[in-house]
Amino acid sequence: MNNKYDTILIATKNKGKIKEFENMFKSFNINIKTLYNYDLPEIEETGNSFFENALIKAKAGYDISNLPTISDDSGLEVEALNWKPGIHSARFGKRSFNDQDRMFYLLEKLKGKKNRNARFKTSLVFYNGENQINKFEGIWKGIILKEPIGNNGFGYDPIFYDENLKLSAAQLSPDEKKLVSHRGKALKLFFEKFKSMI
Ligand code: IMP
Repeated sequence: MNNKYDTILIATKNKGKIKEFENMFKSFNINIKTLYNYDLPEIEETGNSFFENALIKAKAGYDISNLPTISDDSGLEVEALNWKPGIHSARFGKRSFNDQDRMFYLLEKLKGKKNRNARFKTSLVFYNGENQINKFEGIWKGIILKEPIGNNGFGYDPIFYDENLKLSAAQLSPDEKKLVSHRGKALKLFFEKFKSMI
């Protein structure tokens, strides 16, 4: 297949995300570059929304590579915490916390709260210069469990429960998660549009 896009930059160093994109781009015959190909200091996420942060990362990637660039930003929003941690999901609690500490910190904050409603959100941006910004969003609704269940996934997966599937996110395989997750939905929308762009 001959494409308008020869090479695309995925503005991330997250190996899980890189693998996911590489898999999905395979059938398009497009080369993928990542931030491992460039000497770029860590990009500060100074935006006020997932979209703003995704755009900041996509612009930084585009500026250094001059390539059409994809970036995404995600997080968990919890209703009883005024929809926090949101854009601060990866930094929730103390600086020294790891994923597991953050998960237990969240459970502690929700102790005794009846409202356990939560949602994961992703904003994915495809940036190809000022006038070419495409945005794709995905939401996954669920509730926060009282204790972790399951060993798959990462981050808050073991305490995020999908009421339709009756499983936690950490009980899903990567392929099962992709079908229902915030990131999977945003990626699907992106690839649907991308097919018409190439
Ligand atoms: P990122 O922007 O995709 O790197 O996500 C930022 C943070 O949100 C992660 O470090 C996790 O804490 C949380 N997060 C985002 N997506 C997920 C998910 O699918 N499962 C669990 N936690 C997630």
